[in-house]
Amino acid sequence: MFTHANAADAHPNEPTELVDQQHCMFCHTSDAPFLAPSFHQIADRYRDVPNAASMLEHKLRKGGRAHWGDTAMPLPPERGGPLSAEDAHKLIEWVMSQ
Ligand code: HEC
Repeated sequence: MFTHANAADAHPNEPTELVDQQHCMFCHTSDAPFLAPSFHQIADRYRDVPNAASMLEHKLRKGGRAHWGDTAMPLPPERGGPLSAEDAHKLIEWVMSQ
């Protein structure tokens, strides 16, 4: 079963339904690298990168080259279902706020 790795310290603006539906916390945590970089690491890495958010939204929906290691993120259908551009935007906004 998928579990919420950091339910106890969920971010206030977390789009919880999307996060659950796409199982983000199965691989990511807010602050501890686990199967994937933590959302803090991701936010730090891209904070000063122009257009990073749109690149990440696109990647979240369509996939792309791995930026952290050899393992790329699975595409939305493998994570739980299709992801709209609007929902990808909400998720990346939330990741970048961490
Ligand atoms: C099955 C495991 C898994 C799930 C589920 C998952 N991720 Fe990831 N994610 C990864 C891995 C592995 C990476 C590192 C990929 C790379 O090197 O670019 C990653 C990278 C990322 C990145 C950085 C991409 C980059 O180009 O630097 C973001 C942002 C991200 N994930 C957000 C999310 C969000 C939001 C969700 C839920 C919608 C999610 N992830 C669900 C495994 C996962």
